[in-house]
Amino acid sequence: MLERVICLAIGYAFGLIQTGYLYGKTQHIDIRTKGSGNAGTTNALRTMGWKAGVITLLGDCLKCVFAVLVVRLIFGGAHGDIMPVLSQYAGLGAILGHNYPFYMKFKGGKGIAVTAGIIITTWNIWIMLICLAVFLISVAATKYVSVGSLVVVVTYFICVVVYGQMGGFHVDGSHLTEMYVLAALVVVSAFYKHKANIGRLMNGTENKLSVGRSK
Ligand code: G3P
Repeated sequence: MLERVICLAIGYAFGLIQTGYLYGKTQHIDIRTKGSGNAGTTNALRTMGWKAGVITLLGDCLKCVFAVLVVRLIFGGAHGDIMPVLSQYAGLGAILGHNYPFYMKFKGGKGIAVTAGIIITTWNIWIMLICLAVFLISVAATKYVSVGSLVVVVTYFICVVVYGQMGGFHVDGSHLTEMYVLAALVVVSAFYKHKANIGRLMNGTENKLSVGRSK
């Protein structure tokens, strides 16, 4: 149990690195007061341009990957048999740190770029490609990043269950169930953070994908 809590805490610590917010600071912009007010990739792209969007995506995705790598380094020996489970705790922790950073009054992002990091740390090329394709097609078809975000987290959950049932994660039954629950929490968290987006999608006022002027 303790190792799970430590993995969550490591993830949370990495999740606190708010790339979009910090990049905005270098441009004398508080991203939380611009666009949708969200401290994530879409709003960085919308309010500060391509460079900000790409840097925010990479930073927020990679902080999750690094959190998982640290967890592997610490627990790879003693708990190597349940590493996919511990990696998910680190990933979920990174989402919590990203979405609820204590030093920003718990107002961060929505956790989708971090989820991209979680998808990468399944270390399965098919899960990565399927999720990437589903996200790109959803956004291209609707022009709403929020739709792509919600569709991709559900796709991630389905991939985890299918791959798990195929024996891909090499963990036993109870740990597999734990993985499914953790993956479901990623979905619940994403839908919860997208409440306002879902409302806007329903009444036709959601912001379409847009790129602001580079600063
Ligand atoms: O990943 C966040 C995206 O789905 C929505 O962002 O800024 O339009 O609320 P935003």
